Amino acid sequence: MMKEVEEVEQVARDFESDLQTLPPDQLRIKYLSRKGLIPKLLEKIPTLPPEQRRDFGKYVNDLKKRVEEQIKQLEEQLLAGGSKQVAVEPLFLNDVTLEGKRPPLGNVHVLFKARDELLGIFKSMGFSFFDGPELETDFYNFEALNFPPYHPARDMQDTLVVGDRVLRTHSSAMQVRALQAWGVPIKVILPGRVYRREEVSARKYPVFYQFDCLAVGENIGVGHLKWTLETFLSAYFQKSVTVRFRPSYFPFVEPGNEVDVKCVFCDGQGCSVCGGTGWLEILGAGLVHPRVLEYAGVDPDRYSGFAFGVGVDRMAMLKYGINDIRLIYEGDVSFLGSL
Ligand code: DAH
Repeated sequence: MMKEVEEVEQVARDFESDLQTLPPDQLRIKYLSRKGLIPKLLEKIPTLPPEQRRDFGKYVNDLKKRVEEQIKQLEEQLLAGGSKQVAVEPLFLNDVTLEGKRPPLGNVHVLFKARDELLGIFKSMGFSFFDGPELETDFYNFEALNFPPYHPARDMQDTLVVGDRVLRTHSSAMQVRALQAWGVPIKVILPGRVYRREEVSARKYPVFYQFDCLAVGENIGVGHLKWTLETFLSAYFQKSVTVRFRPSYFPFVEPGNEVDVKCVFCDGQGCSVCGGTGWLEILGAGLVHPRVLEYAGVDPDRYSGFAFGVGVDRMAMLKYGINDIRLIYEGDVSFLGSL
């Protein structure tokens, strides 16, 4: 609408200078008659996007009113014996009381809204935050996490290789970095972007967000893991959640588990979100493998710990009812603005 608004402003400026020189009847013809400049501006209304018409119409009509008034005032001055040179009040172009043009407001992207909620919960639980590189060495992404070279477990994560590095496939890659940097005891969140060689689909995207939670100290066990999970999931979903552990395999934890949450939408009855099972698969978890501690220079006879890894995209999709991960990454403003 900028172009049209400029035209209105131009007409207003022209009128202001014509007012100094033209008599009232000519002003009327030029600005107000059927083919005059102001009716021409009004004709533009139907060509504008519907949501702009009201404001634009009001803007032109206000100008029209002021023009009519000024002409009338000039006529009265002339009738009262004044001359054309009488100073007239300048047309107020920047009337601060006019309704403004309202630019569309932005909002926080749903993915980062979810991430900030998640990380905020851990912050309030006293966790620290640690950052590491996206372009990672094989050592931190795999070997120090007890994936030996050529071990078939590496196939769990299709990896993008860049020279002698990998794009980290999981935020677990920061576990040994954090332990080496900060030592024990430690309770830390390792958030970041991760990459996998995936075909794009409703559930998979080659880049996504995760965070790992890692706590290592003396006598840390499954009880701490379960409490931490229940506490954070209840805070995130804003209701008390039930979790269940299913034995699973991740090389860097022993025992390893998949953790499911009783479906927060149907309370375990079975619905479309949980695929009728009553449970939502949420994350992987376990007790830190002694070999990981050894790689980090931590004595596994003295220290133990738990770890779990959470997909931020998955958590955002669950909480905000998004059924296709592509919506998160494809930047469709009408979708993102609706959340
Ligand atoms: N890194 C795993 C993945 O991306 C998730 C995971 C599983 C993280 C178990 C953990 C864990 O910390 O204990 O698939």
